[in-house]
Amino acid sequence: MDLLMELLATITTYLVLLACIAFTAIIFATVISNLLLKVPFVPSSKRVIKHIAKLANIKKNDQVYDLGSGDGRFLFEADQYTDKELIGYEQALLPYCLTKIKNLFRKSNIRIHMKNFMKANLSNADLIYCYLGPETMTEIGEKVQKECRKGTRIYSNTFSIQNMTPEKVWPKDKKKRLPTIYYYKV
Ligand SMILES: C[S@@+](CC[C@H](N)C(=O)[O-])C[C@H]1O[C@@H](n2cnc3c(N)ncnc32)[C@H](O)[C@@H]1O
Repeated sequence: MDLLMELLATITTYLVLLACIAFTAIIFATVISNLLLKVPFVPSSKRVIKHIAKLANIKKNDQVYDLGSGDGRFLFEADQYTDKELIGYEQALLPYCLTKIKNLFRKSNIRIHMKNFMKANLSNADLIYCYLGPETMTEIGEKVQKECRKGTRIYSNTFSIQNMTPEKVWPKDKKKRLPTIYYYKV
């Protein structure tokens, strides 16, 4: 009995140690990738996500992409509007793992890639959502104009695409705590 208890205690100690190492590694990898990527993992509030998903008027046959999808919150919200698979690209390990874990508990149609979205093929996208940074938005402007089909809609939280003209801009609303939202069409 004593031997069994000792064995269980040893296994538990090793499991806790392993979990601590894995957690530290994930945090370390996230900090490093945030430094390298220029755009850190700063999730949009659930209120903002719901608001943009409604503005975007997502149709049943829309193929939705989130570039830099964080913990996948826009994709999970958009999933209720479309029958198509929703695609996310997220390069940082922590938000990628969070999306994967959330996906285990929900019956959602989300496919998340741990990959730089600048290397992704966006030619199937009907709707693209992003919340990134000014420099990255210019690169996205070039990429979507080269790659996406005519009519692809792009919604950007906070940051404009300097090399494209927006179809519509909803200015920041301090009372409702909503950021500036930009809508573009390829
Ligand atoms: C500001 S967060 C937004 C997260 C989410 N879209 C939201 O609105 O809550 C930006 C995310 O983009 C990711 N990211 C930045 N550049 C990326 C790249 N080139 N490829 C893939 N992910 C990227 C970051 O790791 C971060 O999680």
